[in-house]
Amino acid sequence: MKHLLKLLDLSTEEITRILDLADQLKYERKHGIPHEHLKGKSIGLIFQKSSTRTRVSFETGIYQLGGQPLFLSSADLQIGRGEPIQDTARVLSRYLDGIMIRTYGQDEVENLAQYGSIPIINGLTDFCHPCQVLADLMTIREKFGHLEGLKMAYIGDGNNMANSLIVGGLKTGMDVAIASPVTHQPDAMVLEFAKTYGDHFQLTTSPVEAVKQADIVVTDTWASMGQEDEKEARAKIFAGYQVNDELLANAKEGVMVQHCLPAYRGQEITEKVFEDHADEIFEEAENRLHAQKAVMVLLMKETN
Ligand code: CP
Ligand code: NVA
Repeated sequence: MKHLLKLLDLSTEEITRILDLADQLKYERKHGIPHEHLKGKSIGLIFQKSSTRTRVSFETGIYQLGGQPLFLSSADLQIGRGEPIQDTARVLSRYLDGIMIRTYGQDEVENLAQYGSIPIINGLTDFCHPCQVLADLMTIREKFGHLEGLKMAYIGDGNNMANSLIVGGLKTGMDVAIASPVTHQPDAMVLEFAKTYGDHFQLTTSPVEAVKQADIVVTDTWASMGQEDEKEARAKIFAGYQVNDELLANAKEGVMVQHCLPAYRGQEITEKVFEDHADEIFEEAENRLHAQKAVMVLLMKETN
């Protein structure tokens, strides 16, 4: 594994290795066991979009690993004034040991990896959110003790989260069901990939169908970053795709609910469902820290 650009690039063994190391690093953090695997390393964090969790978990994670995080807002970088990503990649590769980037186009992340010579981590694009889904898989595995054979249902927009959940879920042996309107389905390349898993993948427009026998129900905002102007129109499109108690009554008893956050109560999830499942949702948020530390160690520690 040279980069984390999208989960499609990773084998099942690589995903499992990340999750195992994440569990170990979480244990070490909780027990005050030093784990400064990235001592002397500098890692740049480029943000072209807003962030709370990704920014703070990467900055503190790098600090805990003994490295130096550099927060690089695109508003301050020359990228913001039109310097090509190809040049930025070649320059930053001479200063840094790794880069995390959050941006719009997946091609920008792929270009950074192609033109640079250091590990690149995708901290969210319009196409996917691999760091989030690694944390989700870690959280699900913590609760159930395994991933194989579980059914995960995602309700709502066929967006970056849906794309990564499909790939991450199927690669780790889960059954994945997606309920989204026909006009807002997941990416065509991801659906092609999912097809190869036969009955283990289900795409429907019916949230009730998707959550039947589900062990885990996941949702995400109806208006992702960059779609703020379409909020009202999108609220109408997704009106029947809310995760509420009535919908969850169709899932398995004791169903787990996950949300990458930020959550919009009263839209994609009710206040009650959110608060009933707050513990597992915030555990998921915490696990961003541990999962990303594992990714950075595997990509950047010299002896790997
Ligand atoms: N879930 C997530 O990526 O949160 P932020 O946008 O706050 O980083
Ligand atoms: N789909 C959301 C995820 C936020 C973490 C977005 O892209 O804004």
